Amino acid sequence: MKRSLKAIPLVLIGIMLAVLVSACNSSGSKVDVGIVLPTKDEPRWVQDEQRFKDALKDTKYSSEILFSQGSSAKEKENVDALIAKDIKVLIICPQDGDAAAAAVESAKKAGIQVISYDRLITNTDAVNYYVTFDSVAVGKAQAQYLVDHAKGNGQPLYLYAGAASDNNAFLFFEGAWSVLQPKVSDGTFTIANSSEAVALKDKAELSREEQSKIISQVTTNWDPNEAKNKAQTHLTAASADQKGDVAILAPNDGTARSIADVFASDSAVTSFVVSGQDAEKASIQYIIDGKQSMTVFKDVRNLVKDSISMAISILGDKTPETTGVYNNGKVDVQAKQTDVQVVDKDNVKAALIDSKYYEASEFTGL
Ligand code: BGC
Repeated sequence: MKRSLKAIPLVLIGIMLAVLVSACNSSGSKVDVGIVLPTKDEPRWVQDEQRFKDALKDTKYSSEILFSQGSSAKEKENVDALIAKDIKVLIICPQDGDAAAAAVESAKKAGIQVISYDRLITNTDAVNYYVTFDSVAVGKAQAQYLVDHAKGNGQPLYLYAGAASDNNAFLFFEGAWSVLQPKVSDGTFTIANSSEAVALKDKAELSREEQSKIISQVTTNWDPNEAKNKAQTHLTAASADQKGDVAILAPNDGTARSIADVFASDSAVTSFVVSGQDAEKASIQYIIDGKQSMTVFKDVRNLVKDSISMAISILGDKTPETTGVYNNGKVDVQAKQTDVQVVDKDNVKAALIDSKYYEASEFTGL
């Protein structure tokens, strides 16, 4: 039997495969818009999925959403699967900005227009558009909150960052550094957990390479567990004068909650102010309970709306509306940017409940 299989000429196998593929396509599995999101392990992206579903209900176009589960290989498989379904537009939030280039280059070859979603795909010309929040403003807002709530002089400052594979981690850090560095210079803060940041503390503007040095030292990799371990290591190494009232730059809500838990359990830490981002439900509860100080609310409904209207323009052979450009290391990508909002205990109800982003019943003690 095996022999006879081998005897089938390659050409014939090719024809059989072609018939199979076209049978699949004609069985109605064509999709207009393919959407690829990084992971279901973080509430942020599960939320985006839901907001996409809500928004896509009202369009005449078909869509499919796939998750990459933190793997660039899986992401490439997802993109290939969507290409096979004849998508015209790909909306993709990369797991790793550089690694995703290969996936979108395949899409480009297949004549598909690519929209980079929230995170920029870097070092390739195969990205047509970028839909994003103002990520530098996110970092600035986090840092400004720490500055506005600083206590006295020489207050210990703990820095944490996102994953170096995510271009946003650099933009958040850039924004934060621009606000924090002058306050390190004037003695308000003393950096407590990064020798690289201490070495660069007199530089107002950092190159990407310099940012990299600090980020690789204080990265959470967007992983709450890694954040927790790092915070524990930092507090174990900290001297008494690096405790007391402290300020913590935490890059997002998932990592902020675990970092906050570690600082809260150290009796030598008398008080702390900790930033966040995403307005995740669990962090909103933390803010109501006084366990996290703030978050940066990024209204995903707007990002979803912008990327879908872009996709619809493309499908209708129109040029999507953009507001600026982002250089991705290879080309200037036409971008549409949307604003962010600081949320803390004082405005949580107005920002998130009154705007119908969440329902009051999802929280206790509001
Ligand atoms: C997003 C954040 C998110 C983080 C971790 C960033 O690129 O902009 O909203 O918290 O990735 O997933």
